[in-house]
Amino acid sequence: MAAPRATVATNEVDLINFLHKLCVFALLLGMMAATFAANVPSPATHGMVVSQSDIASHIGVDVLIEGGSAVDAAVATAFALAVTHPSAGNIGGGGFLIYRPANGEPIAYDFREVAPTGSHPEMWLVDGEYRFQRHHMSHMAVGVPGTVRGLHLAWQDAGKLPWKRLLEPAIELAEEGFTIGHGLARSLQRGLRRMRAYPASVSQFSKNGEPYEAGEVLKQSDLAASLIRIAEHGSDGFYKGRTAELIVAEMQANGGLITMDDLAGYEAKKRSPIVGSYRGYKVISMPPPSSGGIALVEMLNILEGYDLKEEGFGSANTLHRMTEAMRRAYADRALYIGDPEFNEGLPVTELISKTYGNKLRATIRLDAASKSSPDTFTWPAESAETTHFSVIDAQRNAVALTYTLEWGFGSGIVVPGAGFLLNNEMGDFNAGPGLTNPNGLIGTRANLAEPGKRMLSSMSPTIVAKDGKVLMVTGSPGGRTIINTVMQTILNVVDHGMNAQAAVDAGRIHHQWLPDTLYYEKHGFSPDSLRLMRKLGHQLEERQRQGAAEVIVVGEGNMLQGGLDGRVLDGGVAGY
Ligand code: DON
Repeated sequence: MAAPRATVATNEVDLINFLHKLCVFALLLGMMAATFAANVPSPATHGMVVSQSDIASHIGVDVLIEGGSAVDAAVATAFALAVTHPSAGNIGGGGFLIYRPANGEPIAYDFREVAPTGSHPEMWLVDGEYRFQRHHMSHMAVGVPGTVRGLHLAWQDAGKLPWKRLLEPAIELAEEGFTIGHGLARSLQRGLRRMRAYPASVSQFSKNGEPYEAGEVLKQSDLAASLIRIAEHGSDGFYKGRTAELIVAEMQANGGLITMDDLAGYEAKKRSPIVGSYRGYKVISMPPPSSGGIALVEMLNILEGYDLKEEGFGSANTLHRMTEAMRRAYADRALYIGDPEFNEGLPVTELISKTYGNKLRATIRLDAASKSSPDTFTWPAESAETTHFSVIDAQRNAVALTYTLEWGFGSGIVVPGAGFLLNNEMGDFNAGPGLTNPNGLIGTRANLAEPGKRMLSSMSPTIVAKDGKVLMVTGSPGGRTIINTVMQTILNVVDHGMNAQAAVDAGRIHHQWLPDTLYYEKHGFSPDSLRLMRKLGHQLEERQRQGAAEVIVVGEGNMLQGGLDGRVLDGGVAGY
C-alpha cells in the first residue's frame, strides 16, 4: 500500500515541479516579450537603449544585435530621434556624448553649437536696449550646429558598422513616414504656434496648417534628402555643399549670421570628462562648456558627508541637505563657468575637490535654510525640451548622450529644402555685459557671446561606475534642472537602493540658488516632509513635473534594467 502512495506523492511533486517550470518559462517568455515590446522597461542581458522615442530605441538595439558598438547604436538612435522626436532630436542643434569603453579611458565628445563669426557680446541690444525676441526667437539666435560633426567624430573613434548603415533607418523613417504618437502630437500642436511665421516649418509639421493627430503618418522628404547627403559624404554632407548652402541662404534672407565658413570650420571636440567619486562610485560627466559635471560632483561631494541612506528618501532631513548642496553648487555655476577656450583658468579642480566640498558642507546649518544672496535676479525661464538617451552594449561599453535644439523645436525655423529645424541655442549666452538685473537678465562675463564661443550648458550626460565596471547611465532634459535631476537618479540608486525604474519614477526637487525657491514635483513627497521643510525656512513651490531621465542600471546578475521616464510620452526601452 505504501508504494502506490509514494508513487502518487512523486507524481504530485513532479506535477508541481512541472507547473513551477511552466510558470518560470512563461515568466521568462513574458520578460522576453516585454523586452522587445514597446514602452515596457524590462531587464535584458546583452544590450539596451532607453530613449524618448520607442522607435529610435529599437533602431539602436537593432544595431547592437547586428554587432554594432554602443557608439554605433548611439549614432543610429540620434539620427532616428532627429526624425521621430523633432522637438529635441536633431541635426540642426548640438549636444554632448560621454563614452565609457569597458576597457580604456572615458571620453567626452563636445558638439555644442558655437557663435557665428559675426557675433559679439552686445548683439542682443538695439540702441542699448536688450531685445528678448532677437536673443531667443530670431535667425540671429541660431548657433552653428554641432550634432552631425559630433556623431561622426565619435563614430570614427569607436564605431564598428559602416556609417551609412547607421543612417539608413532614419532615412527610411523620414522617407516612408512613421506613426505619430500622443507625445509628438501634443508637442506639435504647441510647437506649431511658433512655427507659423515660417512656411517651410508649417509645411513640414502640419497638414496645410492643421495640426497632426496621434495615429497619423508624418513623412519628411526634405529631411530624408539631407540625411542621404550625410550618409554619402559623412559630416561634410552637412557642413559643405547643398545642405550648407540651404542653411546659409536662409540666414542671408533673414538677417542670420551663419556663413559657409562658419559651417565648414565647425569642429567637434574631444575633452577629458569631469570625474568625481561618491561613496566609492566613480561619477563621469560632462566638462565645460557644460556646467553639469562640475555642479554634479560639487553637490555629491557635499552630500557624501551625510548619511542619506539613514535619513531616507524624501525625508525633510534628506531634502534639506540636498537643497543646501544645490544652492551652493548653482551659485558657483553662475559665477565661474563658461566656454573653457574663452575663460582661462576656470577653477575646475578646486570646485570638484573633496576639500572644497567639505568647506561648503561646513557652511550648512542642519536646523535652518540658508539664504541665497545676492538676491538680485531670477533666471530666465527655460522650456522643457532637449532629449537624453542611454546605451549599453554586450561588452558593457556605455554611452550617455544628451542633445538639444534649446527650446522645443528650437528656433521653429525649418531650413527650406533641407527639412530640419535650426536651434535657438544662442539664447544660452548671457544677455549683455553687466546686464544682470531684477527682471531675469544675466550679464556676467564668462558666458557673453563671442565669435566661435560655445554657450554655457547644463546638459549632463553621466556614467557611474563601480569597481571598474559600468553601473549606471543617466541624463535628462530640463535646462538648469538637468543637473539636479541627474543627481537625484544617482542618489536614488546609490543611497536609496532603488532599481532603474524606481529611481526614475521617484519625485524630484530643484533649487538653483536664485530665485531662492525649492521646486518640488506634485505627488512626489509627503506633506509632512514639505511642512518640515517650510519650518526650516525654505520657500517651496509645486511643479507638475521635472525632466525626463532615461536611465540604464546594471543590476544583479549583470542584468540591464531600463528606467523609462513616464513624465513624457512616446519613449521606450529596447533590449535583448
Ligand atoms: O544646454 C542647455 O543647458 C539648454 N540649452 C538645454 C535646453 C533644455 O534642456 C531645455 N529644456 N529641457
